[in-house]
This record gives sequence, C-alpha cells and structure tokens, in this order.
Amino acid sequence: MKTLRIALVACCFAASAWADDVPAIWKSKCESCHGADGKAQTKTGKKEKIEDMTAADWQTKWTDEKMKTIILEGSKDNTKMKAFKGKISDADVDGLIKHIRSFKG
Ligand code: HEC
Repeated sequence: MKTLRIALVACCFAASAWADDVPAIWKSKCESCHGADGKAQTKTGKKEKIEDMTAADWQTKWTDEKMKTIILEGSKDNTKMKAFKGKISDADVDGLIKHIRSFKG
C-alpha cells in the first residue's frame, strides 16, 4: 500500500521526496499551534482550546476527507485555522494527514 501510494504520488504530482518534506511542513506551518506531537500544548493551542490529535476518539471523528477540507479551506468556526489551499500541494496535504495519523497512540 505504501509503495503504491508513493508510486501514485510520484506519477501524478512529480513531487519527489515528499515524505521527507512533510515533517518539515508540519514544523514550519502547523507546529506553532498544534504542537510537535499534535497535542496542541502551545500558547495558541491552549488559548483556542485546540483538540488533542493523539486521542483515539479524535482520530475516529476526523476522517481523512474532513481533515483535507479543513486544511485546504480553513475553519469556519475559528479563523486561526487558516485555509492552506495554494500554500501547500495536494500531495503534501495527504502527507500531513498521514503525519497526523502517526500521532495516534
Ligand atoms: C495559527 C494557529 C494554527 C495553525 C498554524 C494551524 N492550525 Fe490547524 N487548527 C487551529 C485551530 C484553532 C483549530 C480548531 C478549529 C475549530 O475549532 O474549528 C484547528 C483545527 C485543525 C484541524 C481540525 C481538527 C480539530 O480538532 O479541529 C486540522 C486537521 C488541522 N487544524 C490541521 C492543521 C495543519 C495540517 C496545519 C498546518 C498546515 C495547521 N492545522 C495549522 C489552529 C492552527
């Protein structure tokens, strides 16, 4: 599955080494609010009461599609969560979702 996915990404987005870039994107664009571990124990995370991405019920509630939508279009309920459409590629959004899944546990 992983190989297939990498092959698909390589074919369609021509984004080489995307998997290596995803943690860097998380660090530069997401970590300041969501934290390195996704627990949102950051200044903004606490202030905005951002949910803990490591929680099992959070992981179930947030399907890949829902995550993709909020990452691309931002949140209507909290403007701190901005739209990243045009700022990061589709392939990177998929990579970020996988990265967020890795917080589970
Ligand atoms: C300036 C702070 C900030 C940054 C930077 C930020 N977010 Fe968020 N994010 C938020 C807030 C606040 C919410 C909660 C939105 C709401 O309550 O509707 C949120 C919600 C989310 C959600 C929905 C889950 C939830 O618990 O509400 C996802 C998925 C998400 N962010 C992913 C990302 C990704 C990926 C990045 C980087 C590309 C990112 N965020 C960058 C503040 C931020």
